[in-house]
Amino acid sequence: MMGTPRRILLTGGTGRLGCELRALLPCIMAPPRAELDVTQSETIEAALKRYEPDVIVHAAAYTDVAAAEKNRAACWRVNVEGTRAIVRAVAECGLFLVHISTDYVFEGRRGMYREEEPPGPVRNYYALSKLVAEEVVRLAPRHLIIRTSFRPRQWPYPVAFTDVYTSQDYVDVIAPEIALAIQRYDKIPHSTLHIATERKSVYELARRRRPGVRPGSKLEANVALPDDISLETSLWQRLKAGWGGAGGL
Ligand SMILES: NC(=O)c1ccc[n+]([C@@H]2O[C@H](COP(=O)([O-])OP(=O)(O)OC[C@H]3O[C@@H](n4cnc5c(N)ncnc54)[C@H](OP(=O)(O)O)[C@@H]3O)[C@@H](O)[C@H]2O)c1
Repeated sequence: MMGTPRRILLTGGTGRLGCELRALLPCIMAPPRAELDVTQSETIEAALKRYEPDVIVHAAAYTDVAAAEKNRAACWRVNVEGTRAIVRAVAECGLFLVHISTDYVFEGRRGMYREEEPPGPVRNYYALSKLVAEEVVRLAPRHLIIRTSFRPRQWPYPVAFTDVYTSQDYVDVIAPEIALAIQRYDKIPHSTLHIATERKSVYELARRRRPGVRPGSKLEANVALPDDISLETSLWQRLKAGWGGAGGL
């Protein structure tokens, strides 16, 4: 592993991304929600005292996009108020905050969105909460917002859409990139960074791990899906090239 060892505290360590990060960064400290609940600020303060981290990676979130439409208060409480509690805690201690955000902050009409482009209008309540959370994080004195998108290791559906474009990838492809950014957070001279892979259709992505997946259209879906939600990632590619192609952890 390259670089100085850090004391890294992770929220959301039991989640899809969190589990991968824990495997990639074995020294990471990841208290479960029962110990660090972002909606209970006293548990954040207690964790900071107990673990004395140099950096907090905030990956905990209310991520059920469909449920968030009905349970707006619960989604807001975790994604916005929970993030605000994290920001308050890091601001008091001068800690660095790495916040995990989403491609969903963009509208998803034309794709290849760059970091500095204005986000929105968002398509659903989850996306709104994540966009507001980003603006809360921008109040933290030292922070990095990573916008990304990932799928579980296996494509879970029998169908995949040919008319939805994305730069997301499987979580075991994306997590090592995020782990690298976490390790080098103090060598990243940006406050927002897109970490994703190349633009492709969702069908193309699905076929890589489920060759027999049926091609379908987003018109079959019962929710409004974007045309093209892909992220432009040249900032991240240039950073990695400047580090001598560092990919190994
Ligand atoms: N999945 C995607 O496609 C995607 C795309 C872009 C961005 N993201 C972002 O990436 C991050 C990780 O997503 P994921 O898919 O790995 O999430 P996930 O699998 O749904 O896991 C969510 C994590 O958040 C924790 N959590 C929820 N409420 C909490 C609370 N009040 N206090 C503390 N922890 C709490 C959960 O703990 P429990 O195990 O106790 O429930 C779990 O560890 C999130 O910020 C998400 O918005 C995800």
